[in-house]
Amino acid sequence: MTNLANPSDTSSDIPLAEQVRVAVATTALNTISRVARRFDDPMGALDAPGGPADRLALHRSLLAAGPFVQSRLGTYLTATHAGCHAVFTSPHASSMPNSARSTVERLLDPTLRAGRGEPLADSFISLDAPDHTRLRRLVQRGFTPKSIAEHEALVRRTADELIDAFPTHGDVDLVESFARPLPMRVITRLLGVPDADLAMFDRWGEHLVTALDRPRSLREATDVHHALVEIDRTFRALVAERRRSPGNDLISVLAEQADGDVLTDDELVGTLSLLLIAGFETTVNLIGTGTATLIAHRDQLELLAADPGAHLANTVEEALRYESPVQFTLRRALAPIEVAPGHVIPAGAEIVPVIAAANRDPLVFTDPDRFDITRPNARRHLAFVTGPHACLGGALARLEARVAWEALLHRFPDVTRWRTTGTPTGGPSQIIRGYRHLPMRFA
Ligand code: HEM
Repeated sequence: MTNLANPSDTSSDIPLAEQVRVAVATTALNTISRVARRFDDPMGALDAPGGPADRLALHRSLLAAGPFVQSRLGTYLTATHAGCHAVFTSPHASSMPNSARSTVERLLDPTLRAGRGEPLADSFISLDAPDHTRLRRLVQRGFTPKSIAEHEALVRRTADELIDAFPTHGDVDLVESFARPLPMRVITRLLGVPDADLAMFDRWGEHLVTALDRPRSLREATDVHHALVEIDRTFRALVAERRRSPGNDLISVLAEQADGDVLTDDELVGTLSLLLIAGFETTVNLIGTGTATLIAHRDQLELLAADPGAHLANTVEEALRYESPVQFTLRRALAPIEVAPGHVIPAGAEIVPVIAAANRDPLVFTDPDRFDITRPNARRHLAFVTGPHACLGGALARLEARVAWEALLHRFPDVTRWRTTGTPTGGPSQIIRGYRHLPMRFA
């Protein structure tokens, strides 16, 4: 097994020079971030924004500043709906921000690079056309709204199983007992990962979420590295097994294509890792934060409970808009990109589209800070981005959230009794925002 079993183990498989480089890089980045915050630089604030009120204030100030803001660190932040939309759909916006890095940027990369075991870095979320198009097309068929609808029974059964296991008296941690295991079990069952491996993937997922921001210490970087190595090893073993005896799952389907030279084994493992991590680390927050938001807006919860058939689908959209599970992302301009008439981001620039702010843009959403499940254009949110990298799992995430709330409303119809019973705990990531623990009572 890995250092994950005992995170205090030393990293014997990683060259010492690489460990030293990452230790220096994480310390330097932490210092830069602290200084940036002291100078009120938006990149510092995004890196560690403090509480929800600070985040909201940051988003408001970015929106008020116009189509983009340039950080003193060089990065361009765009927070408007139109600006984000322009970046996401621009043929000049690269999803391979690492490809054009300077030597200093490479030295300051806080990710441990030590041989195999970086499947996510090579997955199609971090590639441009033509490789992105080729790999995305291979899995796309399994994620159309029509094929996802076929999995509704699986999602419902899983939600019911989890609710059955709620304690009969006292509090339930909604994230731990429901919002997290639901998408996790669904994606592992779709992929064909044995249930016995669930706890392992769950633990690895937690480490990888920190990797999406940046590891903040050598310890975090080491945990992430080992999680990736283990995911890589586990998927390679599963692929070999499914080649010997194929099943009715996504690993078997993709393994067959990899055998026929359509995609390499490295690409296959990268794709499976991406589906696994993207498949649950985000949806947990839609369900967890969405439930907390409904409880905080009782009139909306009661409206939903009075007629779930009429309101559920739009509640999911409004929850995605109001508290974006993915707060911001990254692109690199390969050529100048005009984000608004006369406002051009230059070639070579790193761009941060701030999705969570765009979803509160008053030019698109009337009274944007109001949570309103009847909002007519809630679906215009950019929570799944748009353009070539638009979330492949949007239909699955929507289905999971809809079924999750349907199942909770069915089992606990008296929503006046729904309440949070303790202080929710936030997760570690600034990019993927949500609760790690949400103590609640339903009855
Ligand atoms: C509420 C839940 C979810 C949210 C908010 C979400 C959000 C996003 C966002 C913002 C991106 C674009 C990232 C970028 O280009 O910078 C993305 C991409 C992606 N998502 Fe999701 N996602 C969710 C659920 C899922 C699920 C359930 C899956 C299923 C497997 C999934 C699979 C993917 C994949 C494969 C990509 C890469 C698409 C590409 O690069 O072409 N996501 N997601």
